Amino acid sequence: MPVIETAHLTRLFGETRAVDDLTLTVNQGEIFGMLGHNGAGKTTTIRLLNGLLEPSAGTLRVLGLDPTRQGPQLRGQTGVLTETSSLDERLSAWDNLAFFGAIYGVPARQIPARVTQLLETFGLAERSQERVAAYSKGMKQRLALARALLHAPQVIFLDEPAAGLDPVATRQLHDLILHLSRHEGRTIFLCTHNLAEAQRLCDRVAVLQQGRLLALGSPIELAQRIAPAVQLRLELEPVDVAQAAQVIERAGATVAQTEAAALLVDGAARAQIPALVRALVQAGVRLYRLDYAEPSLEEVYFALHRMQGEKP
Ligand SMILES: Nc1ncnc2c1ncn2[C@@H]1O[C@H](COP(=O)(O)OP(=O)(O)OP(=O)(O)O)[C@@H](O)[C@H]1O
Ligand SMILES: [Mg+2]
Repeated sequence: MPVIETAHLTRLFGETRAVDDLTLTVNQGEIFGMLGHNGAGKTTTIRLLNGLLEPSAGTLRVLGLDPTRQGPQLRGQTGVLTETSSLDERLSAWDNLAFFGAIYGVPARQIPARVTQLLETFGLAERSQERVAAYSKGMKQRLALARALLHAPQVIFLDEPAAGLDPVATRQLHDLILHLSRHEGRTIFLCTHNLAEAQRLCDRVAVLQQGRLLALGSPIELAQRIAPAVQLRLELEPVDVAQAAQVIERAGATVAQTEAAALLVDGAARAQIPALVRALVQAGVRLYRLDYAEPSLEEVYFALHRMQGEKP
């Protein structure tokens, strides 16, 4: 069942089409990434999906509910980390979480244990009684993340969650996001400028350009779209190299270079690799290693924008 569904979703700000005819679905347990330049419409999409903005046109559903009209019902099941944290800086971390826990309907007797657990998870336990105003930027970001997860929501919207986090906290956040999805079946909707982060975490990504959907798919699908063929490098037993070359040519790929114990192969699609390996093994070729370079999500991102005539 799709957890998030939009159809022709559009939001105007005066003349600006911040989100323009956006149609997508996000499935339960998926980590879904939203990428795009500054001003592409990512945050506006998150605000629409959380009922913080009304659409100008189109429809949207989160967990089967309309965020615009059923916001209160929905908020018990969704958590959101926005660009601007709405923490109360005069309160301590502990009081912030206890306060929002009550608002989100966490039962009063569960709040202390839940708050303690989250403060531990985000490395804030020791300073939990300090006023948030005295926190560093990254500490505030961690607290805002803890707040988004307080009521164990089914759907979690994260707008630039790693912004301001140090490398250790970033790694912990990534592990946590994977855990929430893989082990707890929660759905994550993640906006990020960090393309390595998206490549590591996201099952699928949407690339927005001026509010419109430029591409949608898994990082591998998008890589195949911009570079259908990959170059392979095979390491073989030296006496098997000639035979391997024959098998490869017969399969329709091209041997670009023959080395003493390796072959470079052009013109193979990623999807062909398993069949190629099977043919080599069946022919008795001793294959020790196979490498191929697929475009990274960063290369894909720039290629997709270049295809739209954008200068790099
Ligand atoms: N409240 C608003 N009033 C007027 N224009 C707005 C408002 N919010 C967003 N916009 C415009 O909508 C467009 C999309 O903005 P949005 O914040 O969704 O982009 P974004 O993809 O999140 O960008 P960033 O990567 O910088 O966070 C921009 O042109 C922005 O100026
Ligand atoms: Mg934004």
